[in-house]
Amino acid sequence: MRIAIVLALSILMACGAWAQAPEAQQGMFYVIGMGTTPDLLTLRGAAALEKCDMVLLENESDAEFWADLIEGKEVVLAYHAARYFYGIDPADLDTEEQRNMAEQAAQVRQSIVDRVAQAVAEGRTVGALQWGDAMMYGATWYLEMLPEDFPSEVIPGVGAMQAAAAAVKRNPVFGYDTNSVVVTQADFPGRTDLNEQLMETGTSLVVFTMHFDYPGFFEQLARHYPLDTPVAVVEWAGIPGMENVIRSTVGEFVSEVDYENLAPDAHLLLVGKFLECGQGRIDGLAAGQAYVERMHGGMGDAGTE
Ligand SMILES: C[S@@+](CC[C@H](N)C(=O)[O-])C[C@H]1O[C@@H](n2cnc3c(N)ncnc32)[C@H](O)[C@@H]1O
Repeated sequence: MRIAIVLALSILMACGAWAQAPEAQQGMFYVIGMGTTPDLLTLRGAAALEKCDMVLLENESDAEFWADLIEGKEVVLAYHAARYFYGIDPADLDTEEQRNMAEQAAQVRQSIVDRVAQAVAEGRTVGALQWGDAMMYGATWYLEMLPEDFPSEVIPGVGAMQAAAAAVKRNPVFGYDTNSVVVTQADFPGRTDLNEQLMETGTSLVVFTMHFDYPGFFEQLARHYPLDTPVAVVEWAGIPGMENVIRSTVGEFVSEVDYENLAPDAHLLLVGKFLECGQGRIDGLAAGQAYVERMHGGMGDAGTE
């Protein structure tokens, strides 16, 4: 009887070991939002990064910024330009120059994806590190090119938008008589949701400023927003000792802000009443009272005693 129990236990333990072995060797691909600065990296992001043997970076300079965090890890560069013509068949392009560039970018992308796939198949952990939050204008093509069931996880990060809202201590979705915020960037030829059309809603705007033409944008703003509408630019959002908030209005911005010398690739524009009115609502939230009480209870006794 005892021998039978010992045998059964040994078999169970062996089965457990067998079941665990492949898991222990299972590789993984993380896309990690690094925050706008290392002390805004989440605990989950830091734990994933610690496990990584190999990291994908978009720039050489990232290796310097994150030197302490990536020490000893293999670095693979997945340059920003690898995005060129992603999602477009090179054969559909007009010029040979464009077709060549599209084919070259496609090869670069494929070779990076192959490296990730091979590393993960060998049981290694790979992390694609991105500033802020990957899902806000970050790179996602490598994830999309991998098979659907590829072992992967996206770890959210604190992006420039969240850091900028924190810097101005106001919530962009509250706008007194508006209920939403448009997150946008410069217009590009062929894209259909032109900023000036979005401005017709009069709602608040959060503008990522890649390729940005401040005077042109403010000319459009002045056609749709009262000239005293508050605006703010946040430079180096979230970065201690560097973060800088510049406040102005739709009417005054171009004449009073030195927009040509803002922190390169590190400034975000906020537009809207939310910058002043805070959480105040035109309707006083009265219509939501039943919902609020069901979900959050009443006001309690504070202030009534
Ligand atoms: C390609 S987007 C990447 C955004 C990033 N994924 C994020 O979530 O912050 C780059 C743009 O984000 C904005 N940005 C990035 N870091 C910033 C920072 N620390 N402060 C203000 N704006 C920033 C700038 O408008 C910049 O041109």
